[in-house]
Amino acid sequence: MVESSDEVQHGLQDVVALESRICFIDGKEGRLIYEGYDIRDLAARSTFEEVAYLLWYGRLPTTDQLAVLRHRLSQLRELPPSLAARIDSVPETATPMDVLRTAVSELALFEPEETRPGPSSIGGAQRLTAVLPSILAQFHRRRARLPRLEPRPDLSHAAYLLYALVNRVPTELEERALDVALILHADHELNASTFAARVTASTLSDLYSAVTSAVGTLKGPLHGGANERVMELLDEIGTADRVEEVVRAKLARHERIMGFGHRVYKVEDPRATILREWSRKIGEAKGDLRYYELLLKVEGVVHREKGLYPNVDLYSGSVYSHMGIPHDLFTPVFAASRVAGWTAHVLEEYQDLRLIRPMAKYIGPTDLPYVPIANRA
Ligand code: CMC
Repeated sequence: MVESSDEVQHGLQDVVALESRICFIDGKEGRLIYEGYDIRDLAARSTFEEVAYLLWYGRLPTTDQLAVLRHRLSQLRELPPSLAARIDSVPETATPMDVLRTAVSELALFEPEETRPGPSSIGGAQRLTAVLPSILAQFHRRRARLPRLEPRPDLSHAAYLLYALVNRVPTELEERALDVALILHADHELNASTFAARVTASTLSDLYSAVTSAVGTLKGPLHGGANERVMELLDEIGTADRVEEVVRAKLARHERIMGFGHRVYKVEDPRATILREWSRKIGEAKGDLRYYELLLKVEGVVHREKGLYPNVDLYSGSVYSHMGIPHDLFTPVFAASRVAGWTAHVLEEYQDLRLIRPMAKYIGPTDLPYVPIANRA
């Protein structure tokens, strides 16, 4: 008989690990709240920069405060030249998430002031948010044979990110679509990468180490890597008449269908609802609704067969694809938004610090007799 103190919550499911003012998910009602504001209002009326301000400072900015933040972010985009050279030296075949993780870690070497954990970490939060698109561009533009990146302080975070990755200033619709996607991805309570960041910060380690942990955690296909795999699924399906057959065959083999299911949401992820609409809008603007229509069909089959609802990753890839963003940059785009949430959580962790250190239930042997190495079989 297992004592209650020995009960294991596998995957820490339903464990409430800490208090936070940043983000609330109502998994039964399908609601997502940042600092008191419903994600649907933020996605309809706000910008990524406003949301980043909200997450860092706990309130929406005034016009002047927003202008100051926008200016600051645009001034922090440039990479230290030796970091740019270092990124140029990585193999072109490297994965962008590996490059991002390495570059975030290396950036700390240039910012010793910001590697002191505490309130001054807000400087690092803004630097990291500003510079992530430039890191990705430094790597991607070389392999894609695009010209060197120009600073473009005139562009918003969303427009700069797209400009950095595909080398053109987006249309108004594209900029807004990407801005909305960045708003939707900016935070999500104690998701795995944010938890990893908070665990690192809870040892009083620095912000750059915490974000390095988070990038490595986001990389996994069960977390940030799912949208890239949704597009692989669409490629495999090819035409609408094959949806039923391909999806059912995968389910019969007990394979997971990426972009479905969620640890917290028991109904549709509200971010999926918003992105579905953007997938349609941007598809219509491009005169190509193939992804949108395939995804609707996939949704129908998965819901009928497994009762699962779409999550944020189902439609985001189709939105990014229409903009010309390569598939292996989807998860890095996620990171370029979630960095606002990671850093907000690290700042909160420093304010209310308690070492995060759970326990494991030991299931191995005890009291084994020690065998000298010469006598081991
Ligand atoms: N496809 C098929 N079956 C699924 C899926 C799926 N996408 N998701 C869950 N299930 C099944 C799973 O096989 C299990 O069935 P059974 O009880 O028969 O073994 C049951 O549902 C419960 O799954 P679980 O793995 O215990 O649930 P979880 O809370 O640990 O999983 C999840 C959450 C997101 C890891 C999972 O739903 C999944 O693997 N989804 C696909 C990957 C994905 O889309 N990830 C993005 C998540 S949202 C963005 C983010 O957080 O980064």
